[in-house]
Amino acid sequence: MIWFLVSVLFAQGPTLTEEQAYSKKAESYLNPFKKELMMVLKKTVETKGTIAAVNTCHLQAPKILEKHLEHLKKNQIEIGRTSDKLRNHENAPRPWVVKYLSEFKEGQRKGPVVVEINENRIGYLAPIGIQPLCLKCHGEKIDRKVQKIIAENYPKDQAINYKIGDFRGLFWVEMNR
Ligand code: HEC
Repeated sequence: MIWFLVSVLFAQGPTLTEEQAYSKKAESYLNPFKKELMMVLKKTVETKGTIAAVNTCHLQAPKILEKHLEHLKKNQIEIGRTSDKLRNHENAPRPWVVKYLSEFKEGQRKGPVVVEINENRIGYLAPIGIQPLCLKCHGEKIDRKVQKIIAENYPKDQAINYKIGDFRGLFWVEMNR
């Protein structure tokens, strides 16, 4: 009987308050990473220009991620960025994220979502939108020199031709229940 109840509870998923608690937690893990990425990107574009910023992104984005992952590891928390149109294929989506990428892409989802990955792990996804700054490296008219350096570093780049407001991808978090 107890097992029946437990399985019914699992089948129904987390209650709203539980979901809100997971969202809050996930955002507290993501925010420092998001903030640092954005700060480094903005500062480099403004002070050193877009070409230097491509190098910064190329070299720094994985390092910034690595630093935050190291810090979160002891609590078995993982975070990252992914997209349906990848620039760096090391950012490929985990299996549980794939279906959400297409739901966001098609506009069936707009806001953050809490996902039950399995009985031990909870996932959290938050959409990333294209802002004016992003167009310099992900837009339709990218400076030729910038294009060249992106192509050199990412020969299989798919992350171009975006417009302001487009869905660019997802921040994701994985944590224990
Ligand atoms: C100076 C150029 C530049 C600008 C400006 C820029 N990006 Fe990127 N973006 C890159 C590079 C280079 C990578 C690959 C980073 C890596 O190796 O992880 C990348 C990767 C990403 C990824 C990871 C998924 C993937 O395709 O690998 C996302 C998401 C992303 N960018 C979103 C944005 C958003 C949103 C903005 C605007 C706020 C933005 N980018 C602005 C150059 C840029």
